[in-house]
Parts: sequence; structure tokens; C-alpha cells
Amino acid sequence: MKSSPQVIRTQNFVTDGAAFILEQARRAIAERNEFRIALSGGNTPAPIYKRVAIEAQDFPWTSVRFTFGDERCVPPDNPQSNFRMARENLFVPAGVPEQSIMRLRGEIDPQMAAQEYEDELNALAAERGEPMYRHDLILLGLGEDGHTASLFPGTTALDETTRRVAANFVPKLDAWRLTFTLPLINDARHVLFLVGASKSPQLIERVLAGDQQFPAARVKPMAGAVTWMIGD
Ligand code: 6PG
Repeated sequence: MKSSPQVIRTQNFVTDGAAFILEQARRAIAERNEFRIALSGGNTPAPIYKRVAIEAQDFPWTSVRFTFGDERCVPPDNPQSNFRMARENLFVPAGVPEQSIMRLRGEIDPQMAAQEYEDELNALAAERGEPMYRHDLILLGLGEDGHTASLFPGTTALDETTRRVAANFVPKLDAWRLTFTLPLINDARHVLFLVGASKSPQLIERVLAGDQQFPAARVKPMAGAVTWMIGD
């Protein structure tokens, strides 16, 4: 990573998060006629996605490709599904067309779901003559154990150096997850961590200090920027 992360602390977390995403989108579309964004899951981003949908009613969504940084291994209509959360808060209210959305199929065998997603990303990258699919913006959250996407401490996918998308068994959850790996995350032009006010300030400081025991601290794009937007 060229420089240290930009840290934005804000009392307007939702509106500032939405504005950041839309600014990145407008810039990518102006420069490359496409915006490739990976959505994060969990609870934190939901109000931000809702805000994006409100702000961007007539946005050129056909120029946007939505991917998912991780997914739970459940069907798309399951309350645990990150796709369902994004669909309810963003895709439906904003009128995002289906062809702009690449869903991780949590309902099938995890290894197969990871492989098919990786194959699709590789095919898109090849169309652009890129060695790897390069996201313009990857949204990430922060778990209280320092996990990000579904890269949990001590899990296999954390040490993956070649695959872009992996099926990852998480013992503490006793569940499979689908997740981007660090090679794919660290190839992004920009990573935005969205961290709500409820998260531990001590954890945030230790991750920002680069404490490698926390997976989030291993997000260091080689040729990209990292912004931490932290709710006050
Ligand atoms: C997921 C997320 C995960 C999330 C963190 C924080 O699928 O759960 O991708 O990495 O960002 O667990 O979750 P909250 O936003 O719910 O605190």
C-alpha cells in the first residue's frame, strides 16, 4: 500500500458513507465507464445502502457491477443472507437491474460456489486483459475478533495466496462461509472499512497499528488506498 490509511471519524456515518461510495462510483464511471464494487455484509452497511438508494435514484446502474466480499452459506431468502440484506436495502429500492449483480450462491456446495464465482471473476478480468479482477471499491466491515469479510482469525482462507474466492469453515460459528481472499482484496483500487460507533476503539487502534493477529490488519492493497470511516 502506497500510503497509510485515511481515517475519517464522523457523526454523519450513514450520509458520509453513502456519499463516499457514490463519489467513488461517479469517478470510476467517468474514468473507465464502469464501477466495480464489492459489498460487505452484516448489519453495519444496511442503513448506508438504504441511503445510497435514496441518493442515487437515476444512477446509471447498468455501468455498475456489484459483487459480494463474502456470503453466508444459506439460500438468498434466508435472513442471514448478505445478498438478501443488499437486495432489501439497495437493489430493490434503487432499481438495480439483475445483470448488474453477481450473487455468491450460498445455497449450493461451498467449494462449488467459490469456484464458480472465481471462474466468473477471472473471465471478466480476461475480457479486460487483467491478470485478476480489480475492484474499484471493496467495502469491508470489522468483527469484534478483528475478522473482515469472512476471513476469521485462524481460518484456512486467511492464508490463501493464490485463490481469489474461497470456501472457509469457521469453527467459532460452526459454519461455512464464502469469502474473498487477501490477494483479491489487496488488488483493489480502494478499500473502504465501514465501522460503526459500537465497535471497540481499542480493537480499531490495534488494527490500524498493524497488529497482524487481526485479519483486518492484513488488508494492504499493493496499488490502492484504504479509508476507514468510523462512526462517532
Ligand atoms: C458478514 C460480514 C462481516 C461483517 C462483520 C461486522 O458477512 O458478517 O461481511 O465481515 O462485516 O462481521 O458485522 P456487523 O456490521 O454486523 O458488526
